[in-house]
Amino acid sequence: MSYPLVEACHAARRPAPPAPPPFAHHGPALLTEALARIPEEAVRAFTASWNDLPADAHLGAGTPYRFRRYGRFRIAGDGLERLPHVAFFQDRAVNKVSGGVARMFAPLDDTVACGPVLGAVVRTLREHLPGPRTGTDLCGVHQIRVTATDATDGHPAPEGVHRDGHNYVAQVLIRREGVLGAESCLYDLAGRAVHRASLSAPLETIVLDDRRVLHGVSPMRPAPGARRGVRDMLLVDFFPGR
Ligand SMILES: [Fe+2]
Repeated sequence: MSYPLVEACHAARRPAPPAPPPFAHHGPALLTEALARIPEEAVRAFTASWNDLPADAHLGAGTPYRFRRYGRFRIAGDGLERLPHVAFFQDRAVNKVSGGVARMFAPLDDTVACGPVLGAVVRTLREHLPGPRTGTDLCGVHQIRVTATDATDGHPAPEGVHRDGHNYVAQVLIRREGVLGAESCLYDLAGRAVHRASLSAPLETIVLDDRRVLHGVSPMRPAPGARRGVRDMLLVDFFPGR
């Protein structure tokens, strides 16, 4: 015989399941497998597109060390629907260096925005968010290159330890050559470091819950013997909207 009221009381006292960890650090296998069925030529063209990024005009540095493009999409079923190009905006509360400024970056090239690689990457990242997918109907895609020379350090995160102001953020390494530094670090909301890693293998990825952890990346300079350091990243912001 069952006692529904007693069972209901026990269920009410049962502790809620713990929230998943606020981030996940994936080796390159996750996205390598996601791209396995896409023609190699398309994948090569996708990664080569980082060689054609305009300088970030909003950086305010004498010598540009950051280059980027940006695009927004609605995630529709298994595909991406490109949205009109608009400025990228962050509140000053989350970005004390560039927040409060509508930053108009160059749009993604059509071959990147409409090609098969970006769709497969975004779909896979969204399947591996560290939490529920609610509120992830839109995404922002940033292609970013940061360079360093003996004369100019590169600053992957000039705003320091910060949030981006989204629900989730994925950080995908595309290329790292001749770089010393650029260590990624995640912090809990009290500012305690909870994860440190230098992304080194192409397609190595960190996916984080931007509401539950802060992040930062240390400055970079050329590795010994290198004339220039290059760090190419694909960032995907997931946020709500229609
Ligand atoms: Fe960030």
